[in-house]
Amino acid sequence: MNDPTGRSPDDEPEDDRWSPVAEGWGRWAPTLDAATAELDRALLDTACVGRGSHVADLACGTGEPAFGAARRVGPGGHVLAVDSSSGMLRVARIRARAQDLPWLEFVAGSADAIAERGPTHTAALCRFGVMHFDDPPRVLATLRQGLTRGARVACAVWGTRAEVPFLRLPREAAQRHGLLDPEPPDEASGPFRFGDPAAASALLTDAGFDEVGVSTHSVPLRFHGPTEFARFLLDVSQLVRDAAQRAAPQTRERFLADLAETALDHASADHGLCLSNIARIVHGRAP
Ligand SMILES: C[S@@+](CC[C@H](N)C(=O)[O-])C[C@H]1O[C@@H](n2cnc3c(N)ncnc32)[C@H](O)[C@@H]1O
Repeated sequence: MNDPTGRSPDDEPEDDRWSPVAEGWGRWAPTLDAATAELDRALLDTACVGRGSHVADLACGTGEPAFGAARRVGPGGHVLAVDSSSGMLRVARIRARAQDLPWLEFVAGSADAIAERGPTHTAALCRFGVMHFDDPPRVLATLRQGLTRGARVACAVWGTRAEVPFLRLPREAAQRHGLLDPEPPDEASGPFRFGDPAAASALLTDAGFDEVGVSTHSVPLRFHGPTEFARFLLDVSQLVRDAAQRAAPQTRERFLADLAETALDHASADHGLCLSNIARIVHGRAP
């Protein structure tokens, strides 16, 4: 934490898919935080995070919702935030320096490392992480071993493809320009795979949690205009970044211009852009 580069001895080699976009996530943190403010509150409320809670944040990325959880639990509590990307964690640790939250611990590793400390956590959070796990059912079943009886878990997942324009538009544009192969249906894999409420709730039911439920939330991403939206995507989206890097210069320009143009459908009355995305929170209780 004191290393000026943000590196920690437990960092792993930078061979993960998220490190190339980690700095972008850090740069756009204010935009992302504004978009997820209501969702984050709901995540913490649903998982019953309060003063003194011991919370696990799986796939914490650059630090949210772990920071919000740490502010809520206070010095009598603890937050263990785990992510497998050294780059994302480095940004999280840099952001942590601006906040005085010594009871917040960032650890490099796979999400199921949470279980290694035994049943110590009274709550678990995971924001937009489960879709990226190689084997979500296994991770969530393992997670139970890291939770106390009655602990609450709340996972945020994206809605269906139609409900999440900020992810759908770049995919469609990349396909139009031959930069992305046609994708499998939503439910097969990818960011929309738990968008259907039944698929979301099966995640926790199949892992042995009870009192499982699903709620729907708005995640409004706001930009000054379409060019800023395209810049955002180039910084934070592996898909857009890879597509733009692979493309010949002219195709790249056409792809980005097309992306900006389709985003104009989401122009708002104040001449800015607002992409209204839907996320779901699937929640449950450890028996
Ligand atoms: C979309 S980002 C979300 C980050 C953060 N939770 C947020 O909402 O801002 C997905 C994160 O999942 C992490 N991740 C993917 N598979 C993982 C695994 N098996 N264990 C831990 N983290 C994982 C990635 O490194 C990345 O930081």
